[in-house]
Amino acid sequence: MKILFCGDVVGRSGREVLNKYLPELKSSLNLDLIIVNGENSAHGFGITQSIAEDIFKLGADIITLGNHSFDNQNILEYIAKQPKLIRPINYKNSTGEGLYVLEHNGFKVLVVNLLGKLFMHSKIAFDDPFICIDKVLQEYKLKENVDVIIVDFHAETTSEKNAMGFFLDGRVSAVFGTHTHILTNDTRILSGGTGYQSDVGMCGDYDSVIGMTKESALSAFFLQKDETRTRLAPATGEGMLAGVVLEIDENTGKCIFIESVAYGKIFNRGQ
Ligand SMILES: [Fe+2]
Ligand SMILES: [Fe+2]
Repeated sequence: MKILFCGDVVGRSGREVLNKYLPELKSSLNLDLIIVNGENSAHGFGITQSIAEDIFKLGADIITLGNHSFDNQNILEYIAKQPKLIRPINYKNSTGEGLYVLEHNGFKVLVVNLLGKLFMHSKIAFDDPFICIDKVLQEYKLKENVDVIIVDFHAETTSEKNAMGFFLDGRVSAVFGTHTHILTNDTRILSGGTGYQSDVGMCGDYDSVIGMTKESALSAFFLQKDETRTRLAPATGEGMLAGVVLEIDENTGKCIFIESVAYGKIFNRGQ
């Protein structure tokens, strides 16, 4: 089973690059499933119903979220009735679900969204991610009651993501980090057969500070005490789609191939 996982979609640049590439990738890469993290798709903050519906129409099977899940409060009504839009499973007393099991060609694929605890600012209280995912995996076991398990671990630090990768190695098909919007170069299969990348990066304009205009982001770094912060605005240049393609052996649930992919305005690394 071949799956594409796309990093956080940031604003219009992110939505446009998905628009341009996602439908064609579905056929050219022969993808079975597409998962997209959409937590910043609405002007950098949260997601709306119409944006979520557009991303589904482009071919996404599941949309995951993160600490910005409910920046647009209007999404609460939609997420309550759209189970394929998932928010962090360790949110306490929250609307919507943190996981979804979809069926594909007779195989059951579990997708989980999980929020990290280090340096993570969330308006919504949340439980410890390690304890939470451990409980989830007592209920869902690879090749016992589900065939594939994908975890989107939305966290700030590479150390926490790295630790989560090893904590889940062999128990899930893949763990992908999201949230930092900067892709890491550690795409690999861990020794227990779990596909892993510390951060998938973002789908958005990289000529920016993690998707926000350089001006608005830099002004925050120069802020003096008691000065009002300039509102962060998403960068609007041509975007890059950053994702990971992985292949899962349906008989074992393990990852047998993993590769970082990028489309659109890719990084200039000279000749
Ligand atoms: Fe994000
Ligand atoms: Fe985030």
